[in-house]
Amino acid sequence: MYKTQTHTDPQENYQALYAATSSHMESEPDLIANLANISAFLYTSLPDINWAGFYVLKGGELVLGPFGGKPACTRIAMGRGVCGTAATDRRVIVVPDVDAFEGHIACDCQTKSEIVLPLYINGEVFGVLDIDSPVLDRFSELDVDYLTKIAECISNHLHKLN
Ligand code: SME
Repeated sequence: MYKTQTHTDPQENYQALYAATSSHMESEPDLIANLANISAFLYTSLPDINWAGFYVLKGGELVLGPFGGKPACTRIAMGRGVCGTAATDRRVIVVPDVDAFEGHIACDCQTKSEIVLPLYINGEVFGVLDIDSPVLDRFSELDVDYLTKIAECISNHLHKLN
């Protein structure tokens, strides 16, 4: 059984999250099982988070994948919302205040800030990792750095999952 433990030091916490992500991606070949556990790790280990999960690009739109948190929008068009913009522009987007992001899609009105990181398979957009917080300006440079590493780790292993 995997233990989810929140370390008080944010760097230690992220190092444990990275280790958990990488060990899952290396040892388990099932895509859904890995995305489910990684979203659960992020949701339960990061402080001040109300949603963490994946949208996967299918038939030209982003479709809800495994996540932790309240039920969310099922489909997001490319170019729409923070997720669709991050996927279309192929860039990490940090939104310190969701009310200030034009077109933000509110799945949970408690969300105040958000980060979305694109995932790639063989250089093409596979989907996004989306993390929401009920705290304004929740995501620091440290979060961006470590979450980018976690997203890269996921992307690097996607081609061999089924
Ligand atoms: N806020 C996102 C939608 C997904 S939910 O936050 C889970 C967006 O604007 O794309």
